Amino acid sequence: MRPPPLLALPLLAALAAPACAAPAASAPAAPPGPARQAELVHLLRQDCGACHGMRLKGGLGSSLLPADIAGLDDDTLVKTILDGRPGTPMPPWRPFLSEEEARWLVGYLRRGGKDE
Ligand code: HEC
Repeated sequence: MRPPPLLALPLLAALAAPACAAPAASAPAAPPGPARQAELVHLLRQDCGACHGMRLKGGLGSSLLPADIAGLDDDTLVKTILDGRPGTPMPPWRPFLSEEEARWLVGYLRRGGKDE
């Protein structure tokens, strides 16, 4: 015996709900929340630090201290982080970071690695 068709309705509604919610979720790109910020700082220390130095004063990669990036605008820095610098060891981080996250990192670097 087949279940009455009405039973299928709540399931259909549940399946349709995420599709309705999607535009709201992807609306204005929000800055990363506190948990993601902690991950980004970890990434900066571990992965970026491998080339830019543990204190970001430079190594294989250039210094990322506030005074040393002061002459570069946010968009240049964000683009460098997301797409890397072709022809140099600076790799693209787009697979791991959203533009908002890269922008937050730039702000964090400009503050000299301090929380807001
Ligand atoms: C494999 C080594 C390597 C890693 C890992 C790396 N970088 Fe770089 N990065 C470089 C090099 C080398 C340059 C200088 C490129 C050049 O000569 O223009 C650079 C340049 C930059 C610049 C531009 C600075 C300037 O003065 O023009 C920024 C910003 C930057 N890196 C951020 C990051 C961030 C953030 C991360 C981690 C998410 C990271 N880098 C990871 C090697 C690296």
